Amino acid sequence: MSNPDARASGTFKIADERAVVRLGFGAMRVTGPGIWGEPRDRAESIRVLRRVPELGIDFIDTADSYGPFVSEDLIAEALHPYKGILVATKGGLTRHGPGKWEPVGRPEYLRQCVLMSLRRLKLERIDLWQLHRIDPKIPREEQFAVIAEMRKEGLIRWVGLSQVSVEEITAAQKHFPVATVQNRYNLADRADEGVLDHCAKNGIGFIPWFPLASGDLAKPGGAADKVARAHGATAGQVALAWVLKRSPVMLPIPGTSKVEHLEENVAGASLELSDEEFHQLDRVAKKD
Ligand SMILES: NC(=O)c1ccc[n+]([C@@H]2O[C@H](COP(=O)([O-])OP(=O)(O)OC[C@H]3O[C@@H](n4cnc5c(N)ncnc54)[C@H](OP(=O)(O)O)[C@@H]3O)[C@@H](O)[C@H]2O)c1
Repeated sequence: MSNPDARASGTFKIADERAVVRLGFGAMRVTGPGIWGEPRDRAESIRVLRRVPELGIDFIDTADSYGPFVSEDLIAEALHPYKGILVATKGGLTRHGPGKWEPVGRPEYLRQCVLMSLRRLKLERIDLWQLHRIDPKIPREEQFAVIAEMRKEGLIRWVGLSQVSVEEITAAQKHFPVATVQNRYNLADRADEGVLDHCAKNGIGFIPWFPLASGDLAKPGGAADKVARAHGATAGQVALAWVLKRSPVMLPIPGTSKVEHLEENVAGASLELSDEEFHQLDRVAKKD
């Protein structure tokens, strides 16, 4: 693990225009417990963020609701003016305490989310802005329409969605091209295979969140544990290598608050699973 390099994961072109290294970084964990407030070790969070580009990562995922605001503020403090790093953020979820997340999709609120993220990140345009959740209380067409407006105004370059179905992606595409989809997906949680296949067919980047999870497969003697031992790796690295091999549109964003864990995760980009290992993990995960 002497020189972990995210570039071993290859690149993906967002909206067929901007290439990013496929293994990115999720900046949710650099905040406080429950993703609420300042991190316990602020200096270490800053060190993590500064180490990210040194390890070859040029794609960072965050959201205004992480902290709230803490993650975006720390990213700006550690990395502005970003020098080739694409910082993707999200809006549309409000916070009422640790671990609490409430969608608000009123158009004027979504506009405020974008304007305030621009200010915190010290940007004039957000390259990839993602609707964190479609708010079921507001007609989705209203939410999509204001996003399309902000795109036309140049506040946003590309648009992503989060936790959506194929039907919702198709509905949004009447308003703007969907560049990325960010849904929960990992070796052990494959509920969104259909969404992933749709993204792969249509050149949409698929950003799996919670990518390190491998559930019971990581237990001693479990399938991921066995493969990990064979490679002198960890189960988390195997889970990461597995999602990377699953599809060329996959952009995993493992998150951590610790430099040591970041380096370990990035080393997972160089772990090559054989086709046999890939299929074996697939079969066992599907059975569980
Ligand atoms: N769109 C959405 O609704 C949504 C929801 C959740 C997350 N996300 C995004 O997805 C990213 C990743 O999701 P996630 O943070 O839930 O899942 P994850 O990256 O799979 O796992 C992160 C957790 O694993 C631990 N960890 C990381 N590397 C480790 C290592 N090498 N060894 C041991 N433990 C390790 C972290 O703790 P330590 O800090 O101790 O390392 C943290 O508790 C987030 O940062 C965020 O950007 C999006």
